[in-house]
Amino acid sequence: MTSILSGRKVARAIRKEIKQQVLLLEKPPTLAIIQVGEDDASQVYVKMKQRACRKVGIQSAEYKLPSNTQQDALLSKIQELNQNTEINGIIVQLPLPPSLNTIAVIEAVNPFKDVDGLHPLNQGRLLTGGSLIPCTPLAVLRVLDFYEIPLAGKNAVIINRSRLVGRPLAQLLLNRDATVTICHSKTQDLTDITQRADLLISAVGRRPKFTLTGDMVKEGATLVDVGLSRIEGKVVGDVDAASVEGRAAHLTPVPRGVGPVTVATVLQNVLTAMKLQCE
Ligand SMILES: NC(=O)c1ccc[n+]([C@@H]2O[C@H](COP(=O)([O-])OP(=O)(O)OC[C@H]3O[C@@H](n4cnc5c(N)ncnc54)[C@H](OP(=O)(O)O)[C@@H]3O)[C@@H](O)[C@H]2O)c1
Repeated sequence: MTSILSGRKVARAIRKEIKQQVLLLEKPPTLAIIQVGEDDASQVYVKMKQRACRKVGIQSAEYKLPSNTQQDALLSKIQELNQNTEINGIIVQLPLPPSLNTIAVIEAVNPFKDVDGLHPLNQGRLLTGGSLIPCTPLAVLRVLDFYEIPLAGKNAVIINRSRLVGRPLAQLLLNRDATVTICHSKTQDLTDITQRADLLISAVGRRPKFTLTGDMVKEGATLVDVGLSRIEGKVVGDVDAASVEGRAAHLTPVPRGVGPVTVATVLQNVLTAMKLQCE
């Protein structure tokens, strides 16, 4: 039988950990979230982060900017928050409206306040272990560690090469002595590669065009499903859970898998950022 690795349990454990650490501080940290425009999914994510902050005693401040905000105005808001010593973490909610230069915006955030871990300095620091690590890759690692899934010497295959997920995750798994392969839309013979994976992480989010099925999975593998798609209004992952049942040893579900852990790792990064600013 495939065991389901609940993300909720992991998220609860992380929140408990953070809450205890926040209680020991003289003053709780503050997270600033900048949202440009009215993207529905972004509004949901911002609310989830604010709710998670409240649960552990972290303060959050939301800065809503209109969708026609100019690059200069956004950069000066970021500069203001960079300089504000009351603010410990900054998130610029992505995606930004297409008129804005996302790379320039990411690079404008003070790397010590970069809770998303997307600044080039933080991405580079991953090579030597990292401090502010992008939240989704960090969440995947926290799930694997919580359920004591061994990584050293294992064949890890990641289907995703984005800056947000696949690339940082590959580095984290490499740092933990896994043998890592990254796959993407141009990969040939994907099934040959995934069938050799002891640990298979899928973050495509293109159901039904891309579905990870049982024939792609090695017997006894651990499957981490990061991808999110909507089918008939329902949120689903990349994995066809019925077809991997009994074949995979472990599977993270969607929903209630990596998602809630990602939100909890935002809190972990706010605390890490505060500590970095005090050093
Ligand atoms: N659960 C969570 O907390 C969480 C957090 C963040 C993201 N997500 C989800 O994770 C997914 C990925 O996010 P992202 O921002 O990294 O998206 P992205 O930049 O669109 O990345 C998707 C990746 O999938 C690859 N891909 C697409 N079609 C493929 C195919 N047929 N075969 C193999 N690979 C294929 C793409 O390859 P190319 O590079 O060649 O295009 C790309 O590397 C999305 O569904 C997103 O919603 C979930």
